Amino acid sequence: MKMAEVTRKSIQALIDLMGADQVSVDPDRLADFSHDETEDIRVLPDVVVRPSTPEEVSLLLRWANEARIPVTPAAARTGLSGGAIPVHGGISLSMERFNRILEIDPANFQASVEPGVVNQVFHEACKEQGLFYPPDPSSWGSSTMGGNVAYNAGGPKAVKYGVTGAYVLNLEVVLPSGEIIWTGANTLKNSTGYNLTQLMVGSEGTLAVITKIVVRLIPYPRHHLTLLAPFASAEVACAAVSRIFQAGITPSGLEFMERDAIDWTLRYVDGVSIPTGPGIEAHLLMEVDGTDQEAVMREAEQLALVAEEAGALEVLFAQTQAERDALWKLRRRVGEAVKKHSVYKEEDTVVPRAKLPDLLRAVKRIGGEYGFKSVCYGHAGDGNLHVNIVKGDMTDADWQGERLKMGIRQIFIEVRAMGGTISGEHGIGLVQREFMDLAFAPAALDLQRGIKALLDPNNILNPGKIF
Ligand code: LAC
Ligand code: ZN
Repeated sequence: MKMAEVTRKSIQALIDLMGADQVSVDPDRLADFSHDETEDIRVLPDVVVRPSTPEEVSLLLRWANEARIPVTPAAARTGLSGGAIPVHGGISLSMERFNRILEIDPANFQASVEPGVVNQVFHEACKEQGLFYPPDPSSWGSSTMGGNVAYNAGGPKAVKYGVTGAYVLNLEVVLPSGEIIWTGANTLKNSTGYNLTQLMVGSEGTLAVITKIVVRLIPYPRHHLTLLAPFASAEVACAAVSRIFQAGITPSGLEFMERDAIDWTLRYVDGVSIPTGPGIEAHLLMEVDGTDQEAVMREAEQLALVAEEAGALEVLFAQTQAERDALWKLRRRVGEAVKKHSVYKEEDTVVPRAKLPDLLRAVKRIGGEYGFKSVCYGHAGDGNLHVNIVKGDMTDADWQGERLKMGIRQIFIEVRAMGGTISGEHGIGLVQREFMDLAFAPAALDLQRGIKALLDPNNILNPGKIF
């Protein structure tokens, strides 16, 4: 489908339609919306528009649909698959003004928020009322609820509590036609028609624009214990993960970090004491939580025991809240630290949990064969390994070359053979599109394209993503 160019005339039409304060062609503003946190990719939009009501989003989409102008929804732009990059130019639709928590309803354990609310802000507001919204991607200090829903974001807590989609009950969305609909109901159960709510979850802003989100909440677990286990072998650390679950323990966090990831991150985080002596190849950062302090303590002790039986050199308990916070800060900053260290490509691999050691071994072997270095970390308890391929001293030609692409493809081929898939929580966006054929048979891909065509026949909404 041919897209239209944005002309001076169309900018004026947008200003007439939306009001001058909602429409910006300021070069700095365009530059802000030209990228997210994905690699070093930048494509400028022609214009940034920032409506504040569903009705204004509807007006905008109706107009853009008619004019065949691409619209790329964007909020905090912390994504790691390029989903918010306006690859076809056109309009960047900023959801920044949708920043209100509409209701926290303790009687029903539900809340209603606008999509531009920052995850951690919402988390804290719930916590004040003894309520828990668990999804906590590393970017939670800046990423927004709408972005989290659009990518079905995970995070460390997902291992016990599930990912974003497990909390979304109902969504108000604006379709590319301008129609405003609710996808479900504000109920804990719903067996009514197709599950449009979960169709929207993870759809990466390609099907509709989310304008309200209704989530369920749970009671806030009052007690936590955080443990750190160094291992002499990264593969042994990965193998320990499934043994922990097999021992009947469900940690509320079970994260893996390779040695380089820790060394690079320590430069940016103060107040962490972490064993990094020679002979340590990886760490597991583990947490248990609950409402009964003694039960949490017993579970932590059992966890320490199992980890040591599985090969941990020692298991250290965070003694204070400050120590605990510092360890999590370190873990949350790994992605940023890798990025500061070198240009990198992030592959968000996920396999059935017990295959984690096989995955790590495969990544390192393929790196050897294809000539790249990787540093791995991630949500080990979910079998979700972030494979960061670092450019380091690779030449630009090698970095852009076919051979590296073939190496990445080989990783995904082996991930699929292990029963895994090509993204656990970062989405497909722009950068993983070329691997979708590995994740789905042609008929399953056609079905998804058909859904896209049904909702967005003119392909105006976040074109150039997923497929
Ligand atoms: C993390 C992000 C990169 O796990 O998903 O830190
Ligand atoms: Zn992650």
